[in-house]
Amino acid sequence: RRRMLTVALRSDVSITPNTILTRLKHECATPLSLLQQVAANMSADMRAGLGLGLGPGPGPGPGGLPMIPSFVENLPTGNERGLFYALDLGGTNFRVLRVQLGGKDERVIATDFDQVSIPQHLMLSTSQELFDFIASGLAKFASKEDGRFHISPGRKREIGFTFSFPVKQTSIDSGLLIKWTKGFAVSGTPGRDVVACLNEAMERQQIDMRVSALVNDTVATLAGAEYWDNDVVVAVILGTGTNACYVEQISAIPKLHGHVSSSGKMIISTEWGAFSNGLPLTEFDRAMDAASINPGEQIFEKTISGMYLGEIVRRVLLKMAEEGGLFGKSILQNLSTPFILGTPDLCAMQQDCSGDLHAVGSLLYDKAQVESNLSERKTVIEVCETILKRGGSLAGAGIVGILQKMEEEQRGRIFGNGNRSVVAIDGGLYENYPQYRAHLHDSVKELLGAEKSKNVVIEHTKDGSGIGAALLAASNSLYPHGL
Ligand code: GLC
Repeated sequence: RRRMLTVALRSDVSITPNTILTRLKHECATPLSLLQQVAANMSADMRAGLGLGLGPGPGPGPGGLPMIPSFVENLPTGNERGLFYALDLGGTNFRVLRVQLGGKDERVIATDFDQVSIPQHLMLSTSQELFDFIASGLAKFASKEDGRFHISPGRKREIGFTFSFPVKQTSIDSGLLIKWTKGFAVSGTPGRDVVACLNEAMERQQIDMRVSALVNDTVATLAGAEYWDNDVVVAVILGTGTNACYVEQISAIPKLHGHVSSSGKMIISTEWGAFSNGLPLTEFDRAMDAASINPGEQIFEKTISGMYLGEIVRRVLLKMAEEGGLFGKSILQNLSTPFILGTPDLCAMQQDCSGDLHAVGSLLYDKAQVESNLSERKTVIEVCETILKRGGSLAGAGIVGILQKMEEEQRGRIFGNGNRSVVAIDGGLYENYPQYRAHLHDSVKELLGAEKSKNVVIEHTKDGSGIGAALLAASNSLYPHGL
């Protein structure tokens, strides 16, 4: 009798993968009411971040988002002409691009680009090493300029520099790095003007070029998308990290203290990755955040973006394995390694339609060296789906928060009858993960309702940021009319 009692007590408190899954689903649920609240919080935090007393910089006050003025006040017109370069540093790759712009009729005459992945050690190196790496990539690329590209004699080659980290922009071509995000921890850059860092590195390598625009990747994406479609009002990046920018009325930016703008507008980079107000978070999110190089920061980014989704799933699976016996007697050493599962792995597993989830099993074995049976693989897929749905739905709520904020400012312009408001989205997560995209679209639709949804178009814009940065370099060129 005593033995039976012990067994009964044990099974009462026992943890199984299923109990962990049920709790996870409950904590990650995104019912409409929660999404509505998140969208409303996003609008409120945007407003707080634009408010007085914060200066034109990083903000944020209590609860406010950074809301960084980009000093981009005019979007490309199509008249831009000449040869321009773009540099892009911000995710897993460093990209260089050149483009010959031909004005209204010819638009893009020729382009050329190159990309290299950023070695892990550089992400944790010194400012000089990182910028020397960028400058040498630029020098190599520039030396291969061919006959399709031309520039008037005596004119410097100009660069649009896309630098996708929070920068306290001081003008269109200067800005101080506030902090690194997305796993970068390069010493010596925070607080410095990143254009000056690049100029110094270019001097060291005797590159005679000029940075004429410093932009965030969202801002470059908006400019690039708007070049082809005048109705683009919001741009979102969903890749390694995440952020969104939009066109704001100068009159709605008290912290710019009466800044005069010819257009009356300015693109604001929200840095919404820093948002956290009202998110459904779990013990796994909290543990991942605590172990990160920027604890307490970028909570929205850590919940919805590509760098982190795989890691959240890994943490859930590890708990299921350690405490609930998932994966039987498999050795858990590899599954205990942070970031061993990437978001592309989740995506690959979710595309497996075979009856025995063979691809899921192989991937779990290849990546984490764990053996799995069919029911365990099904559990893994459910965990992926739960984390993914939460991410995509919250991203959608963020977008609706921005649109609602814009609508408040310009009644009828966003949701009004017959208007078309385009949200341009780029980034590997959005591009390559169909389930994520679907959750995002569903969430936007559910939140807006049928009437308003008619006016909002969500578009995938691919690699628009390279051309966008070059266009912004052109709009801020020293030689506005020449070739
Ligand atoms: C991070 C950066 C932000 C960037 C985003 C997308 O959130 O802080 O500046 O736009 O990633 O790359």
